[in-house]
Amino acid sequence: KTKALSGPDIAARKGQTPLVCLTAYTTPMARLVDKYCDVVLVGDSVGMVLHGLPSTVGVTLDMMILHGQAVRRGVERALMVVDMPFGSYEASPDQAFQNAARLMTETGCAAVKLEGGVHMAETIGFLTARGIPVMGHVGLTPQAVNTFGGYSVQGRGEAGDRVMDEARAVADAGAFSVVLEKIPEPLARQITSEFSIPTIGIGASPACDGQILVVDDMLGLFSGFRPKFVKRYAELATSAEAAIGAYSQDVTERRFPAPEHVFGDVSNGADQGTQ
Ligand code: KIV
Ligand code: NA
Repeated sequence: KTKALSGPDIAARKGQTPLVCLTAYTTPMARLVDKYCDVVLVGDSVGMVLHGLPSTVGVTLDMMILHGQAVRRGVERALMVVDMPFGSYEASPDQAFQNAARLMTETGCAAVKLEGGVHMAETIGFLTARGIPVMGHVGLTPQAVNTFGGYSVQGRGEAGDRVMDEARAVADAGAFSVVLEKIPEPLARQITSEFSIPTIGIGASPACDGQILVVDDMLGLFSGFRPKFVKRYAELATSAEAAIGAYSQDVTERRFPAPEHVFGDVSNGADQGTQ
């Protein structure tokens, strides 16, 4: 069994080959992702992707723990990171520590991710000093959808300085890496060159130290929305729909089950065995 990557291993990849990262929420997907990725993120995007929630705001710690436990069983080599959901860390460093410790002890993850820069710096330092590696997340932070008023690009023009400040706060606080989501490409490039922790881009820049996507998005499984930054590597929902349609027709027209799917001899009406 290979040794799993740690937060420090990921931090040490700054300026090396790009970090390959994807989300996963279930054991079978985690197994596939683990084969090719350095980081497997149990993102709170699970709320929208698998639970049909309108945003990530309604995701609970219990949901993250349940999906974290499922992913843990499929990951051997990658660093497993679990998102802290909205409401589980913002109130105080104490609250964040209690809940991050639960995520670690109950799921076996080796790091957590939380959204926010300047206002979360104290908390990031608090967790890191107490044995919990933290991945930051700045730019478009989806848990703030209600204060942003949507999911538009963050850090355009003058606002670039604010995103730069958020990234600096996260890096200075001791995070081992930081996700840059949906910010202008030159800004992502600048943040990547300015700070010593790896940047992981999503809608950011090829210059980032790594890239991440929601796995269901890149597989074409989740059709809820189609952001510009998602490259579709497959159209699995299309294949699934065709398969379900074919099954429906087969059942309706008594083509399924066929003789090879049943027990005993269908044609002579013999007793149907249970083997
Ligand atoms: O929840 C999520 O999937 C994420 C990534 C897209 C970075 O936070
Ligand atoms: Na997230």
